[in-house]
Amino acid sequence: MKNGEMWKDIDGNDIQAHGGCILKHGESYYWYGENKGADNCPGTTRVDVIGVSCYSSRDLVNWKYEGLALSADKDDPQSPLHPSMVAERPKVLYNEKTGKFVMWLHLDDSRYVYAGVGIAVAERPEGPFRLTCAKQPNRQDSRDMTLFKDTDGTAYLIHSKDWNKTLNIAKLSGDYTDVDGMYVSVMQDQEREAPALCFHNGMYYMITSGCTGWSPNGALFARCPHIMGKWKLIDNPCEGRNYRRTFEGQSAYIFEAGGRKWLMLDHWKRFDLKNSGYSILPVEFDSDHNMTVRWTDEWNGLPLI
Ligand code: GAL
Repeated sequence: MKNGEMWKDIDGNDIQAHGGCILKHGESYYWYGENKGADNCPGTTRVDVIGVSCYSSRDLVNWKYEGLALSADKDDPQSPLHPSMVAERPKVLYNEKTGKFVMWLHLDDSRYVYAGVGIAVAERPEGPFRLTCAKQPNRQDSRDMTLFKDTDGTAYLIHSKDWNKTLNIAKLSGDYTDVDGMYVSVMQDQEREAPALCFHNGMYYMITSGCTGWSPNGALFARCPHIMGKWKLIDNPCEGRNYRRTFEGQSAYIFEAGGRKWLMLDHWKRFDLKNSGYSILPVEFDSDHNMTVRWTDEWNGLPLI
C-alpha cells in the first residue's frame, strides 16, 4: 500500500475510514474512520455525514469492510448525526469491565460552532454502535479529539478546546461512557489539534498538528511522565521529504502492532475529501525520550518477526 494514497479493501473498493483509529481485539485489528464516500457538497470542504466505517484485518493490509459501525440519522433533522452535521475523528476502546465497545467522536454543526462529542456503545466491535449521548465534555467546547487507554485501563479524552487554543486531557468514567469530571488543560495557547497519544518506557507522548484546517502544517510532539502532568512541546518528530508539512498529512492515531508503535496520517484533499489518502509510519524513540516518525513509501503491514 503506497503511503499518502487512497487504499483499497479486499473487495477492491476505496477504504473510507478517515480521521480514524485502529483497535486490536482478539486476533483482529479493527479500523474505524469517517466514511466520506460521497462528493463534497458543491463549493464546500465538507461531505454530508454518512457514518463511521469499520474494517477488519489480521495483517493490517487486507481489510474487509464490516459496514457502517455508526450510521448517520437521515430521518431526524434534529439528530446530532443528521447528514447536515459534522461527525469526525471517531475513536473506539474496548472496556474490559463492561465487555462493551465505546466510541467517541467529534460532533458538530456544519460551521463547527457547536463543538461537542458523541458517545456510542456496541456489544461487538463491528457495531452497530448506538449513540447514547451528545454533549460538551466538562461543559467545554471540543473539536479535534482522541481517546487514550492507559496501562491500568483508565481512559482519557484528549480534545482541543477554547476555539482550539488549548488541549484538555479529561479522565473518563470507569465504563468509558462519560467524563468523570477530572481534567487538566495542557499546552495552553499553543493552538494544537489532531492529537495522537502513546506511552513508551515510562513516558507519555502526544503528536499534534497546528490549526490550519485541511491544509498540512508541521507536526510537533509533546511529552510528559504523567498523563495529567505538565506536558511540554518538544519538536517536530518527522524525518524525510516534506517533514515540515507532516509529509502532506495530519496525525490521526497511534496504535501498537508487532511490538512497535505506528502513526496513522490522513492526507486530506479538501475539495475531494472522499479521495483523501492514508499513511501508516513507524514511530521510534531514543534513550533521550525523543520521538521520530520516518517517512516510508509503503505500508506493508506487520513486519515478520
Ligand atoms: C482540521 C481537523 C479536521 C477537520 C478540519 C475541518 O483542522 O483536524 O478533523 O475538522 O479541520 O476544517
